[in-house]
Amino acid sequence: MKITSIVGARPQFVKLSPMVKAFAAHPEVEHAIIHTGQHYSDVMSDVFFRDLDIPKPNINLMIGSGTHGWQTGKMLLGIEVVLLDEKPDMVVVYGDTNSTLAGALAAAKLNIPVAHVEAGMRCLRKDVPEEINRVVVDHVSSLLFCTPGVSAANLNTEGMFWDSVIPAGDVLHDAFVQNKDRIPSVVVLPGKYVVATVHRQENTDDRNRLNSIICALNDIAKIIPVVLPFHPRIEHSVKELSSGITVIDPLSYLDMLGLVSGAEIVLTDSGGLQREAHWLGKMSIILRDVTEHMDLVADGWAVLADADSRTILSSAFSAMKTLDRKVELGPLYDGHAADRIVAKCIEWLEP
Ligand code: UD1
Repeated sequence: MKITSIVGARPQFVKLSPMVKAFAAHPEVEHAIIHTGQHYSDVMSDVFFRDLDIPKPNINLMIGSGTHGWQTGKMLLGIEVVLLDEKPDMVVVYGDTNSTLAGALAAAKLNIPVAHVEAGMRCLRKDVPEEINRVVVDHVSSLLFCTPGVSAANLNTEGMFWDSVIPAGDVLHDAFVQNKDRIPSVVVLPGKYVVATVHRQENTDDRNRLNSIICALNDIAKIIPVVLPFHPRIEHSVKELSSGITVIDPLSYLDMLGLVSGAEIVLTDSGGLQREAHWLGKMSIILRDVTEHMDLVADGWAVLADADSRTILSSAFSAMKTLDRKVELGPLYDGHAADRIVAKCIEWLEP
């Protein structure tokens, strides 16, 4: 039995790592990896494969950066050729990037069943590119692996067949569980600090929003140092940073967890980092007006501050005053989501 994972962007490599381990426990499965090359530099790609002991991809299409249509189109062309050649029995795609969309579309059009890991996440905004990718991918997939609660409910609301929606847990949490004893202590600055990350197109490509976020970070930095790992998307657009903000290169998975575990709070527009901050017992200020993780907001682990300087500032300071709380997670957060997903894929192919 051949099952092929298609990945291409930084967060997908992390989600792939527990899946690789889960596949390894099933010698009857030949698991292959196609890397689209959406992310290509060492800090955005190779370091994750090294750190997380993920085997080298069987094929790297080396598509690189471009506009959405160009990038997705090139991926479709490249992936189709590989799938026609390799003829896998199933394709697994992860998350909501252009690599997820291209992988799912190429496979579905060739009548290869698609399993979507991290299905059902919605922010209900059509101007968010990842939302378009999620909706399309879910609707062409045969197996929808989601977290219980909101994601499963979203899929039911959209009329998905009940037996294709499988609340299996969160593979990003599996990666966290598998690596939490390896988290290094990362000292960028002595003393207390906060971590900020900004990479979403809705923030980086909108001058007003970006200026407003930077203005808030500059103000926060007057009181407490801010560490800002730079995603390549904002590298060239940010100019006036105060001296209280320390810019560093993008970090590896383990170093980022290390940086967050020593921080007071996290300010971010990343969906994955909100979850990881929570698992590390840290509050997030979300630099968006929506999030796919409203459960974190409802439980008080995250605050939606949008790109509004004042709200970011006041939410950050009140979060820093919040007392430490115990992290409580549901029964599916046991580090075995990937095992359940792989077992279900095999059962589905060989009933
Ligand atoms: C993509 C995903 C986003 C995910 C993010 C994680 C889509 C639509 N978006 O956005 O959901 O959260 O990955 O990082 O798929 N670049 C480099 N080196 C690289 C890769 C990119 O310098 O290895 C630069 C290029 O200038 C490029 C820019 O980063 O134009 C953005 O890359 P892109 O492929 O658009 O993805 P992300 O913005 O990272």
